[in-house]
Amino acid sequence: MRKLAAHQSADPAEPTPAHLEAALRRLRRRSPLQPRLAIVLGSGFGGLTGLLAQPVTLSYAQLPGFPRPTVPGHGGRLCIGTCHGVPVALLQGRAHFYEGHSWARITFPVRVLAAWGVRDLVLTNAAGGIRRSFRPGDFMLLRDHINLMGDNPLRGPEWPGLTRFVDLTRAYDPTLARGLVHAARARRVRLHRGVYLAVSGPSFETPAEIRAFARLGADAVGMSTVPEVIVARQCGLRVAAVSCITNLAAGRNRNPLSHQEILDQADRITRTAVAWFSEFLRWYAARHE
Ligand code: HPA
Repeated sequence: MRKLAAHQSADPAEPTPAHLEAALRRLRRRSPLQPRLAIVLGSGFGGLTGLLAQPVTLSYAQLPGFPRPTVPGHGGRLCIGTCHGVPVALLQGRAHFYEGHSWARITFPVRVLAAWGVRDLVLTNAAGGIRRSFRPGDFMLLRDHINLMGDNPLRGPEWPGLTRFVDLTRAYDPTLARGLVHAARARRVRLHRGVYLAVSGPSFETPAEIRAFARLGADAVGMSTVPEVIVARQCGLRVAAVSCITNLAAGRNRNPLSHQEILDQADRITRTAVAWFSEFLRWYAARHE
């Protein structure tokens, strides 16, 4: 009889405040820079690391408490460098709930960034387009989100000194959004604004679910970002988030969905994403001279 593979959780132990201190020590030892801005690079945005001058790179494996992403297309490296003279941290790749990581693990990098002194966080992701006018290759700036992941990253023990009753009325920062819109216009990027609905995945949605999500007010659907936004707001970070619309959501056209299709489309937008964020970083640098 064939033996079933032993079930292994993606990460054995939960990260603690002690992991956080250890990760901070490692970051400070590797780079004297003190970034104010961090960007989490989802599918399609990995090329942004090319924007950094004299980057220092740490793999997540070198950072205590950080998750180890297991999905192709999601690296697992933290790059520190400058762009237009501004120190920036780029997190290439993220861990997803559907990989089996705990909420605490998925959101731990955000806690480390906040403790390190980061104040502004831009999250990027790949998403399926629900709004009828969206086309693969478009981008969407998140105006708001709907959490249908079935849980909340703040459930459980409280982190020292932080409330768990976090206000999400204005989760997305208007100033960072202005910078992203300004940069998109300058580089002629097709950028919409809309509501992102987060599911846990990993299966894609059914057409009936997508029709229901449209009625709820969602413009795009994805499997990430919302836990990080919630924890970032708990830590007092200013947040912006953008989706690359890699595909039309289930039932929005005849084609079946595939992860490969999403990765292929994500590859195609890399150059646009790099040009757009280069302009955004120029805008950011001018505001923080
Ligand atoms: N559904 C969920 N997550 C996604 C999709 C989708 O269609 N595309 C990219 N991430």
